Amino acid sequence: MSIVFDENNRIFRLDAGDSSYAFLIEPNGYVAHLYYGGRLNTTDLRYLYRRTPRAFSPNPADGTAEDSRDVIPQEYSTSGIGDYRVPSAKVRRSDGYNATDMKYRSHRIYRGKPAIAGLPATFGKEEEVETLELLLADGDVEFTLFYTVFEHLPVIARSVKVSNRSGETVYIEKAASCTLDFAYGDFDLLHLPGAWARERHVERRKLNHSIQRIESGRGLSSHQHNPFFALVTPDATETAGEAYGVALLYSGNFSAEIELDQFDQVRTQIGINPDTFEWKLGPNEEFHTPEAVLVYSAEGLGGMSRAFHDLFRRHLIRSYWRDRKRPVLVNNWEATYFNFDAEKLIRIAEGAARLGIEMLVLDDGWFGHRDDDRSSLGDWFVFESKLKGGLAPLVKRVNELELKFGLWFEPEMVSRDSELFRAHPEWVLSIPGRPCSEGRQQLVLDMSQPEVVDHLFRAICAILDSAPIEYIKWDANRHLTEVGSATLPADRKKELFHRYVLGMYRLHELLLERYPKLLIEGCSGGGGRFDAGMLYYVPQIWTSDDTDAIERLEIQYGTSLLYPSSAMGAHVSACPNHQTGRTTPFETRGIVAMAGTFGYELDLNKLDEAECDIVRRQIADYHRYNHIIAQGTLYRLSMAGATNPITAWEHVSADRSEALVSCVQPRNVPNGPLNHVRLRGLEPETLYELAGDGRCFLGDTLMKAGLPLPRVESDGCGWQFYLKAVK
Ligand code: GLA
Repeated sequence: MSIVFDENNRIFRLDAGDSSYAFLIEPNGYVAHLYYGGRLNTTDLRYLYRRTPRAFSPNPADGTAEDSRDVIPQEYSTSGIGDYRVPSAKVRRSDGYNATDMKYRSHRIYRGKPAIAGLPATFGKEEEVETLELLLADGDVEFTLFYTVFEHLPVIARSVKVSNRSGETVYIEKAASCTLDFAYGDFDLLHLPGAWARERHVERRKLNHSIQRIESGRGLSSHQHNPFFALVTPDATETAGEAYGVALLYSGNFSAEIELDQFDQVRTQIGINPDTFEWKLGPNEEFHTPEAVLVYSAEGLGGMSRAFHDLFRRHLIRSYWRDRKRPVLVNNWEATYFNFDAEKLIRIAEGAARLGIEMLVLDDGWFGHRDDDRSSLGDWFVFESKLKGGLAPLVKRVNELELKFGLWFEPEMVSRDSELFRAHPEWVLSIPGRPCSEGRQQLVLDMSQPEVVDHLFRAICAILDSAPIEYIKWDANRHLTEVGSATLPADRKKELFHRYVLGMYRLHELLLERYPKLLIEGCSGGGGRFDAGMLYYVPQIWTSDDTDAIERLEIQYGTSLLYPSSAMGAHVSACPNHQTGRTTPFETRGIVAMAGTFGYELDLNKLDEAECDIVRRQIADYHRYNHIIAQGTLYRLSMAGATNPITAWEHVSADRSEALVSCVQPRNVPNGPLNHVRLRGLEPETLYELAGDGRCFLGDTLMKAGLPLPRVESDGCGWQFYLKAVK
């Protein structure tokens, strides 16, 4: 049993992997948080429930000064009744008041985990997961708190269902997916801010006395912030210290609030961003929040990442491709941009076939009359003057070269200059009387309208049925503005951001139902919608439009804090790099791209013979090592910085018999040190042979004394070492 209820103490204890989580039903019916950390063996935790009267902290009418909601750590916090910290929920009644109070009413514990209609959610078999439903109520408005415990992972999934049992309509102004309180506050906050082409750089700072908010109001989870944060103990490093990671499975406007309060306690929350949200809930209607997942690690950031990776790979990604080796692809975007025709694509495909590449992906510009980014989004039919006769003859020729074929779409967007916009201006997000702002000269479709989703589904199916298309890249190249819908009444306008996300998820669901084997790569101007919500629908996401291998080190490092290597889209591109102008050795570009899904994004016909040989070698290595990278365990060994010139990471196979170590030195340090890396995750007593070298080392030696790196010859040198256990 991973969830126990101690009736005498009125305490719940949830055991997930090597972690435990506990809370108690207070005498007055509120639910106080007690503990979250390493695994415990008892529910005798009442001593952790402390009540102290505090000045200027009011108490509820049925309690005394010690009962103030302002002081006691909570499982889901009230609003307007004396807890001045960030509230979990606010529900406005027909009288206009939104004070929200909730007390324990009942609970239910069962094996398995229910799905959430219309939303992504983790899943597990009955023998793997157990769920607690804790019913709290504010009169006739109910809040069901869902806690699912993963028995073999330090993970608890949480979400909340709001049910209106009153006879009148209410409005949900806020419903966090979870609240996680701590009775102490000596933590660092770690999160992943960024920008286009500079996504998910790790930022870490000490909590201070304020509400620190990580959020998106852009309609998509965004490049700027990721729906994730971690609280880590000040001593936490990659390998030691405690880390609590919280991620939201959601791809739209989210907010995470982290508040260090007056008593140095911490309240944290994550959920739909309340600034751009409200939901009208009629009598007997229910609203389910997106799911949040909590991860505990006593092994620093590395342990936290590995738990997230295991969770996402085994209990979130559903794709047919989840455990399958993805085809090595070449994407024509950086090779041709909009300037291509069928013959040029065939030449790229021929070059690709000679080198062992397995799929050609045709990027933007194949539809409508699109020659640049000013037109045709929404017109998902072939641009005949570029591709005569449509896709079928092109794909046939590509297939004859023994390459699969993939295609780019940007389903949610429309150009003013398009047949779709001219026919259906009412399908665009807009506010009457206001001009529509543009982003990349395009407008956004109102995905809340079922007709729009149905139309897109039909249009995409028509293309997918016209030729054997085995992959699509699903892009979204702008953020939302003038978020208004022609179909929503005034009192539902603030539902639109969320309804947009639900519509986008529905289109994914429809496509997956119809094409279960279709490989979909998510994308939003690079990694602008790289979140756990998307991973429920797609097994991989384009990590960044910045393909510079050196920039990618930092982007992929940050991304790997919670997302597995198998989900990170990464390609080798041409040098000088199109985003940074930097030139990096070809080998290094391959090493960095191999930390993700691996492919090429350049004109292969422009490579010289030596480079072609490198490509052939890289592809052979990909086939040899991909099982370790995609399904193994990741150890981040070091990140280049002021005192350390090397960025290094290591993938170890599930049975620990193989390891692939990747190292890059971004800058050559004149007269610098002789570098080495210390490995992790090996069997100490096992002898490993270093490929291409013949020498054998004990795992213990490699982990303690490390591997020496060759002397650096130029900026951006990279090395890969493969180690295999000697039988
Ligand atoms: C976005 C993507 C790129 C490419 C272009 C095409 O920026 O991230 O990879 O597909 O759109 O317009």
